[in-house]
Amino acid sequence: MQSILEIIKQRKSVRNFEKRPIEKQTLDKINNYIKTLDNPFSPDIRFKILPAIQEDTNIKLGTYGMVKNAPAFIVASNNGSNLSELAIGYTLEKIVLYCTSLGLGTCWIAGTFNKNSFSKSFVLSENEKVYAISPLGYPIGKRAFLEKLIGADSKHASRKPFEQIFFISNWNTALSQDNAGEYALPLEMLRLSPSAMNKQPWKLLVLGDQVSFFLDKSVSSYIVDIGIAMCHFEVACNELGIKGKFTKDMDSQVEYPSKYEYVMTWNKTK
Ligand SMILES: Cc1cc2nc3c(=O)[nH]c(=O)nc-3n(C[C@H](O)[C@H](O)[C@H](O)COP(=O)(O)O)c2cc1C
Repeated sequence: MQSILEIIKQRKSVRNFEKRPIEKQTLDKINNYIKTLDNPFSPDIRFKILPAIQEDTNIKLGTYGMVKNAPAFIVASNNGSNLSELAIGYTLEKIVLYCTSLGLGTCWIAGTFNKNSFSKSFVLSENEKVYAISPLGYPIGKRAFLEKLIGADSKHASRKPFEQIFFISNWNTALSQDNAGEYALPLEMLRLSPSAMNKQPWKLLVLGDQVSFFLDKSVSSYIVDIGIAMCHFEVACNELGIKGKFTKDMDSQVEYPSKYEYVMTWNKTK
């Protein structure tokens, strides 16, 4: 099996696809994988893979020209609560990484898509809304003109340095990769997370065996980005044999700037 660390390094947003469909066997694998997924935040999320053209209604799922030739889309819905948004981040990113391991391309899209066309093809219950989608298909070798135009390559490459997002003991002490000990790799994998508009609104504070996750609201209001970051951190810890779990019980003495929103704490267990 491929290392999850390698899969994280391979993943990048793909917006231009080969015109060939995804084999049924591969789609079955993804659907079976989705069924195994659980999350500690909210049960009110749902995922479905839809073909790009709905045969019964002839509706073509739309992304305002941002995506070319995708044969299918992963559609994610939630109930609008903060925790279900966090759950979508955490869970859809697991699906994204699984699809990457199968050689498929994906791209998180929460803004530039036609919600109407996706909602019509995804029977929704009361209070349920399509939150995000991802195209799914085989990446075309060369990057599309469009991807170059929006600077997707440079956005993929650029990430904030360790010292701007990770802190130890207090907010005045930046954490470097060299000083991060066993968390060096999980934090590096977190740093490679995708985020809306590549804003990277993550702030983490390491206190002993606790790693607390915050959303920097002065950068972005998308709590979904923290869910994605938590996914990367956790799957890396799992692979490296670092045991722990997410809970909402940071030491209440810990202070943090009002522009940060406390989200969750990773508690290391023996
Ligand atoms: C929550 C979320 C929403 C996003 N929404 C869009 C979108 O609406 N349109 C788009 O073209 N890209 C969207 N992206 C892709 C980001 O721009 C991309 O992940 C980021 O620039 C980093 O590039 P990379 O994924 O290649 O590493 C979104 C990403 C995330 C995580």
